Amino acid sequence: MEVFREIPALRHKLKEIRKKDAAIGFVPTMGALHKGHLSLISQSVEENDFTICSIFVNPVQFNNIEDLKHYPRPHSLDIEMLGNYGCDLVFYPDENVMYPAEPQIVFNFGELENTMEGKYRPGHFSGVGLVVAKLFNITMPDAAYFGKKDLQQFAVIQSLVKELNFDIHLRCCDTIREHDGLAMSSRNVRLSDADRQAAPKLYEVLCLGKEMLQKGVAPSLAQMKMTEFLKKNGNFVLEYIEIVDSENLKTVTDCKNHSTISICVAAWLGNVRLIDNITVF
Ligand code: PAJ
Repeated sequence: MEVFREIPALRHKLKEIRKKDAAIGFVPTMGALHKGHLSLISQSVEENDFTICSIFVNPVQFNNIEDLKHYPRPHSLDIEMLGNYGCDLVFYPDENVMYPAEPQIVFNFGELENTMEGKYRPGHFSGVGLVVAKLFNITMPDAAYFGKKDLQQFAVIQSLVKELNFDIHLRCCDTIREHDGLAMSSRNVRLSDADRQAAPKLYEVLCLGKEMLQKGVAPSLAQMKMTEFLKKNGNFVLEYIEIVDSENLKTVTDCKNHSTISICVAAWLGNVRLIDNITVF
């Protein structure tokens, strides 16, 4: 597995790969890899001839300086894991390689900006859109792999690919969880022992909501019961629990009018912000 830190050398290498008509799969990450990231790598390895992973903690998508400062960066471990999972190439650029000058372009993803992550993390999706568009232009893959764990991020990337005519097939892969249900996340290592014990309640509340909706409980009532559940279990500071159409992420008031519904949640435990979601139908 080769590691590239500069764009021209990477482009040269990928030109050679493309000459062989190899299908290229791409997995963008911010590193601190866990089994969730590695499942995307495995999926790409299975479906393509050549897999690229990028590791870049993208400063422009962080709206909280402390979060950026404390983001884990275990690079040599990451690179070792990627080699073991069959990744062919790692792009691990420095900040000045990705942003030689202060970026001026700002994205706005319309209605996706006004709800959930868009609403609570202003500017976040512009930063995600910018770095992913740059990485797509640098790597020019045939397919790119993202996690359902970040459902709204996937919707944003879909919109980016559609509006900018990227010729890239997008794949959305299932959320990988710890044994107790907690969705794997690079931020989980920052939870205190007590908060780590309480954290699986976030998935439990999603399962509870799913069960209620499947039994025909009205979304507004289910949302209220879920909020109460979280208040009673652990020191969660809830940002939102939303019941949404999985495709356009609009709020669902009546399950009958939608073919696919998800419940999305974001909450703080101490100084760690966790998000998760579940598909109901
Ligand atoms: P990061 O948080 O490192 O996640 C990289 C990819 O892994 C994303 O597509 C994310 O949805 C997926 N992922 C994270 N946890 C997962 C889990 N438990 N199961 C399955 N997939 C999981 O998301 C980002 O980085 C950045 O925003 C990025 C797209 C790289 C742009 O900077």
